[in-house]
Parts: sequence; structure tokens; C-alpha cells
Amino acid sequence: MARRRELLRVLGTEPIGLYTLLRLDRGTLEPGEPGQFFMLEAPGRLLPRAVSLCLAPPGELAFLVDPIGPGTEALCALDRGDAIHVFGPLGNGFRLDVERPLLVGGGIGIAPLPYLAETLRFPPAVLGFRSAAHAEAASLLPGAEVVVDPVLVTDCTLQGFDVLACGPEPMLQAIAARFPGAQLAWEAPMACGYGACYGCAVEIDGELKRLCTEGPVLVPSHRIDAGPSPATTRRVAASSVAPVATATGAPCVLAPLGVRDRGTQHHPAGGHHAA
Ligand SMILES: Cc1cc2nc3c(=O)[nH]c(=O)nc-3n(C[C@H](O)[C@H](O)[C@H](O)COP(=O)(O)OP(=O)(O)OC[C@H]3O[C@@H](n4cnc5c(N)ncnc54)[C@H](O)[C@@H]3O)c2cc1C
Ligand code: FES
Repeated sequence: MARRRELLRVLGTEPIGLYTLLRLDRGTLEPGEPGQFFMLEAPGRLLPRAVSLCLAPPGELAFLVDPIGPGTEALCALDRGDAIHVFGPLGNGFRLDVERPLLVGGGIGIAPLPYLAETLRFPPAVLGFRSAAHAEAASLLPGAEVVVDPVLVTDCTLQGFDVLACGPEPMLQAIAARFPGAQLAWEAPMACGYGACYGCAVEIDGELKRLCTEGPVLVPSHRIDAGPSPATTRRVAASSVAPVATATGAPCVLAPLGVRDRGTQHHPAGGHHAA
């Protein structure tokens, strides 16, 4: 997949709960594989910010942004007609050759899942959020099971699935412990996004590797070091995980195995098709 850097026009921004969906004209950039990311110029900041592709309607690239600092706030403040430099697609996305996919997302970690869900024809999904306001972002994945802290996604029945997950590090560690074959999208602070700066180096299987080129999705055989490392992400800080029962008091039961048609998928600008 050819990566490029290009000046892209902002088509609009939409609030999705406490996050912002930033929609860009695609230009000649390719959307890449689900789980890949782009480096987005953040106006007024020296370095671009890494953001996963969330949706790929025809002619567009859409990103779900959590305004947690100056760069992401600047991205959320963009207006229709503005233009920013975008570089990508970058990194390794999710492997799509799975038999019984189950998408698991936590907080802003749901960002790559709508594009992944569409590519895999809308498999079951479980999403966890730390507040009801954050959980409004679940509208991007209609039909997903949604839990709110203190209920955890791992309180749901995940057995019998091929888990593809993105979220806070404690969530990923818990999933990795229970599902050794799970594909997990990790995060680390990134400066270049293509392997040049070593800013994203993490210990994987006892070796230092660059998450921007080896990841962000790690294959099942990969094991990320759980100790203090640059891989301790802000998604960790954003999460507050503690086990109990479901938010509604009802058991969290996933839909039967198999593909579900979710015709009501969120359609920015009235259309939503991969690639
Ligand atoms: C592969 C990848 C995909 C991502 N996808 C998305 C996405 O789809 N949507 C989204 O909103 N964000 C995503 N992020 C995170 C996003 O890049 C950071 O939140 C952003 O760079 C923060 O910039 P800032 O200037 O707003 O905040 P800063 O002031 O730079 O950071 C705020 C706080 O978060 C910490 N931090 C910043 N970036 C990271 C990081 N990448 N990992 C760990 N800690 C960090 C800082 O140390 C600081 O404590 C992704 C990151 C990676 C690596
Ligand atoms: S972000 Fe520069 S090497 Fe990974």
C-alpha cells in the first residue's frame, strides 16, 4: 500500500459524544488496511499526531479524535475548508483472515473499529467506555454491546471468537492474558510514524522494536513487555478499569456467532463504503 504525504481539505467535523469525527477529502491517499494509521498535521504544533483511520467513505478519510492535549484539540478545532498535511497509511493493520471475528474496543480505542467492522462485514463487537457521554461514540458501531465503567469488556463472554482489539493498555493486557491469539492494536508516542526516530520503541518478545513499523497491531506471537516502557500509553491513563456487573444490571451476552448485517451504520456525509 503506497504511503503518501498530501495536503487534504477538511470536509467537516462532527461531535460524536465527547470525541470529534474529522472528515477529510481523501485526495490521492489510499485508506490502507483497518488498524493502520495516518500522521495528521496538528495546526500550531511542530510534530504531526498519529490517528487511526476510523471510516473510509468514498473520497474521504474520517478520523475519530479524542481532544486530550494541544495537538488533538487543534485537530478537533479544524473547520470545513481548512487544509492539513496527512501522511499515510502507516504501520501494520489487523489480519483479516479470521474465522469468527469479535471486535473489542475501549474508549478512543474504538477509533479503528468502524472501518474494520465494515471490512469484516459487521461481526459482533463489544465496546467499553468510562462514562455514558463517552459511550455515545458507540453510534459508530450500531449493534455493538456497550458497557460502561465499572463494567469491563472482559466481563462479557468473549470465548469462541477471534478477538481483534484496540484500547487502553490494561484492557489489552487482560485480553492478551485470556486470549493468547488475540490481535491487539497498541499505542506509543510517535514522532515520525515511519521508523526513523525510534520514539515509539517498545520491548516486544524481549527485543526493542518500533511500534510504528512492527505494529501498531501485533501478531499473536508477539508479546509486549508489561513493565515500565514507552508503550505505557495515554489510553492507560484514560482508562479506569474495575470489574463488576453490567451497567444495566443485565448480563452482557454477545449475539450468536456469525455475520450480522448492520444497515444503520453511521454514515458521515450520507454515505459510507470502504475504500
Ligand atoms: C498508532 C496510533 C493510533 C492512534 N489513533 C488515535 C485515534 O484514532 N484517535 C485519537 O484521538 N488518538 C489516537 N492516538 C493517540 C494520539 O496520537 C495522541 O493522543 C496525540 O498524539 C496526543 O497529542 P496531543 O498534543 O493532543 O496531546 P499531548 O500533550 O501530546 O499528550 C497528552 C498526554 O498523552 C500522552 N500521549 C500523547 N500521545 C501519546 C501516545 N501516542 N501514546 C501514549 N501517550 C501519549 C502524553 O505523554 C501526555 O501525557 C493514536 C496513537 C497512535 C500511536
Ligand atoms: S515514530 Fe519514529 S520510529 Fe516510530
